[in-house]
Amino acid sequence: MTDRGVRSDPSWWRQAVVYQVYPRSFADANGDGVGDLPGVLSRVDHLVSLGVDAVWFSPFYPSALSDGGYDVDDYRDVDPTIGTLDDFDAVVAALHAHGIRVIIDIVPNHSSDRHVRFQEALAAGPGSPARDRYIFRDGQGVAGELPPNDWRSFFGGPAWTRLPDGQWYLHLFTPHQPDWNWDHPDVAEDFLRTLRFWGDRGVDGFRVDVAMCLAKDLREPYAAWEVVSANLPRPIGAGGPSRFPDGAHPLLDRAELDTIYASWRQVFDSYDPPLFAVGETWVEPHRLARYSDPRGLGQAFNFDFLWNPWEATRFREVIRDSLALAQTAGTSTTWVLSNHDLVRHATRYAPSPLAPDQRLTAAVPIGPEAREQGLRRATAATMLALALPGSAYLYQGEELGLHEVTDIPAASVQDPQARLVDGVLITRDGCRVPLPWTTSGPSFGFGDAEAHLPQPEWFGAVSVQTQTASDTSTLALYRRALQLRHELQCGEELTWLDLGADVVGFRRPNGWVSVTNFGASPTALPPGEVRLTNVDLVDGLLPADASAWLVPVATTDARTS
Ligand code: GLC
Repeated sequence: MTDRGVRSDPSWWRQAVVYQVYPRSFADANGDGVGDLPGVLSRVDHLVSLGVDAVWFSPFYPSALSDGGYDVDDYRDVDPTIGTLDDFDAVVAALHAHGIRVIIDIVPNHSSDRHVRFQEALAAGPGSPARDRYIFRDGQGVAGELPPNDWRSFFGGPAWTRLPDGQWYLHLFTPHQPDWNWDHPDVAEDFLRTLRFWGDRGVDGFRVDVAMCLAKDLREPYAAWEVVSANLPRPIGAGGPSRFPDGAHPLLDRAELDTIYASWRQVFDSYDPPLFAVGETWVEPHRLARYSDPRGLGQAFNFDFLWNPWEATRFREVIRDSLALAQTAGTSTTWVLSNHDLVRHATRYAPSPLAPDQRLTAAVPIGPEAREQGLRRATAATMLALALPGSAYLYQGEELGLHEVTDIPAASVQDPQARLVDGVLITRDGCRVPLPWTTSGPSFGFGDAEAHLPQPEWFGAVSVQTQTASDTSTLALYRRALQLRHELQCGEELTWLDLGADVVGFRRPNGWVSVTNFGASPTALPPGEVRLTNVDLVDGLLPADASAWLVPVATTDARTS
């Protein structure tokens, strides 16, 4: 058992607020236009005043950035543009000093094509043991000129790339992200080493990238996978677009994953408190328990809020089902409204010409009224999520109410998934634009130089500096909400309140009540003292697109009055 020096609650994560930092776009200390760890260090006060319980860092590893850092050259180092291992230690120490835990992204499905093992495999040639650590196959056709099968990558195009020596290798994402062969003991062993490396450095847990992808069935004849290209983000599995029975998909959500994550669990449990893990799991809800099982990763992302149109019925259903599933699995659920892969929820909830299921990945420019309504719904949804039992994952910039940036010039686009569909640009860059910290300045306080993705003019007005000066800003609301959540947090149950078809209301065990009005007309609130709203009440009623938190009215003790 490794003593981590700090004895703390092993269940700290169950109802934690986890704030996601996308390091290249958070804060740039050395003025090269790219965010870095010293930048994070300089902004720890922001995370402290926001009141988050943990920070999740998206990849900061050495990378050629073919996929925003999810193409890892070395799992046990820091990219020089982002800093050094010493900088990492300093960030961990500063966050820990404020009681904030640190979660890092681990990317086990694929490395980058610059990884030393992949380079070795290339050099060693076809048939060599070095090639066994990845997935190399001969092609079909007279001279092997056709890929081994018709599998498609999630980012579009074939999932196989041919090398000059004639062999093909598998990559579920870009050709720069070759998939590891998880049947190879070296691969499994090396990841355990990586987990220990970071555990020993003081991290509190991991977010496991595409946790449902690692195990694969490569026996011939290959299973035909009628992939709907780029079907991430989409739940995958039985009933999903691929229509495979549970566990029978050749590439996703396979039974062998249980063994992999059980071995990770042994590493997690060798720390005190055990390391935490949350899987990025795009699977059907009923399959989530496989990952969130306490004998496996322990928690799995529940992305079900993301598909919801702005409708009370859907939100009620998702809440009911997610809580029940988590309870059965002996874990807590997660609430996610935004992350680095999706259109920011302020924009998603705005009236838009796009169909609801397109809004997750595509955004079009919208006018001021739609922006205002989208933001209002977004903060109402955030309050709803924060009042629920379970962990809440926040994505950097949502505390500023940031909208998606929709006017990134084609020449500046970095996302390998970016494409034009019916004239609408689909890119994840719009939620990855560097944060505005100050009202003016070369990159609105992000750094001294122009930011690596262009920031729009309107960023100054929504910067941390501008919003800190106002009591009614989105930032002020997030700070109050997180503080109040801490004060009011209690057992993981809820009781539904019947407040009408368009209203989602519930009470937590200590009397904390949350009410969200999805309808078009104002609604009456149940009895209680209103502690927080995202917009002002009108004549005592909760307006459309608004949330309120209430607590029981303090009763006067009859004997002393
Ligand atoms: C996950 C990440 C995404 C990345 C992909 C491949 O879905 O969240 O950003 O592109 O995995 O690693």
